Amino acid sequence: MPVITSIDDLKRIYKRRTPKMFYDYAETGSWTEQTFRENTSDFDQIRLRQRVAVDMTNRTTKTQMIGQDVAMPVALAPVGLTGMQCADGEIKAAKAAEKFGVPFTLSTLSICSIEDVAENTTKPFWFQVYTLRDDDFMRRLFDRARDAGCSAIVITLDLQVQGQRHKDLKNGLSAPPKLTMASIANLATKWSWGLQMLQTKRRTFGNVIGHAKGVSDPSSLSSWIAEAFDHALDWKRVAELMKMWGGKVILKGIMDVEDAKMAAKLGADAIVVSNHGGRQLDGALSSIRMLPAIIDAVGDKVEVHLDSGIRSGQDVLKAMAMGAKGTYIGRAFVYGLGAMGEKGVTTALNVIHKELDTTMALCGKRDIHDVGRDILLVPKDFQGSWA
Ligand code: GLV
Repeated sequence: MPVITSIDDLKRIYKRRTPKMFYDYAETGSWTEQTFRENTSDFDQIRLRQRVAVDMTNRTTKTQMIGQDVAMPVALAPVGLTGMQCADGEIKAAKAAEKFGVPFTLSTLSICSIEDVAENTTKPFWFQVYTLRDDDFMRRLFDRARDAGCSAIVITLDLQVQGQRHKDLKNGLSAPPKLTMASIANLATKWSWGLQMLQTKRRTFGNVIGHAKGVSDPSSLSSWIAEAFDHALDWKRVAELMKMWGGKVILKGIMDVEDAKMAAKLGADAIVVSNHGGRQLDGALSSIRMLPAIIDAVGDKVEVHLDSGIRSGQDVLKAMAMGAKGTYIGRAFVYGLGAMGEKGVTTALNVIHKELDTTMALCGKRDIHDVGRDILLVPKDFQGSWA
């Protein structure tokens, strides 16, 4: 086994072991992928201020996200089809997260169902909600999340219609994969993935198959989204859904100051500054570039989290120093999962924690709560001047 020292190491193993269709699904942005690329390259523009001769003993990355204790401010983001990256992927990722002490968010479009994850874990997880037209389905979804003990829901606001990802269309993405000449040829080289997949019964969308109606091809993600998603979702509906749930709510996909103000006004417990990992509106600014303006507008009214582009503990630290109260990793944990299952997710979390902790120390801080703008060197024109 190679020595794993970075998220990139996990990504290389993941790429080798996982069918192309699912690797491409994770490792894509929409259209030209400009936003996908800038989500990470904009983090690189921010530099760190090295401080010396500061007592670095007794460091801690412990904090809270929506009032919940976390070992570091990094939750696992909701990622569709996680159980196709590795058999029973959502269960394995949730187990790694709970052992590490960070939140796991289950996607509506997961392979393992809410019940599957609840039966195989001991701590409450968060549930991400896509809003479907079928109101009965939505009510039942909330009941199921409640019965499973979920401690918060994350409502995704930026995907009523899907941003086009060329590779998914070309690969004919589906769960389980449809057998074509190309997919069979590729699957034949991924035997350990296939062997594990044969041993599980969870191979399609566990939260929706048998629970929702009105979709012509239930194995296809794009037909689900095109046919079943509620294109009419608006702020009034968001308020209704928040009431329907009645517990903690995180609103995800905020990239605009006016939207952030609206989310804060509705009384969300947190918002996530997110462009869906560059998978929705290509041409949107990176999340880290939008973060300062959103913090300035609503940072004192609502907890502000960030996703899209986090691949290291240094990225986590930069987002926290800019004022975020928490971050999410999607691809970074999927690389670990596809590489080595639960152990790989734990490795990804360890890598990120070590990077976060060491960088914090070298910037002269011992407690994540003391990390602020003073540790950053941000280019003067970082936010850009856009007319
Ligand atoms: C679904 O959320 C996706 O980005 O594919």
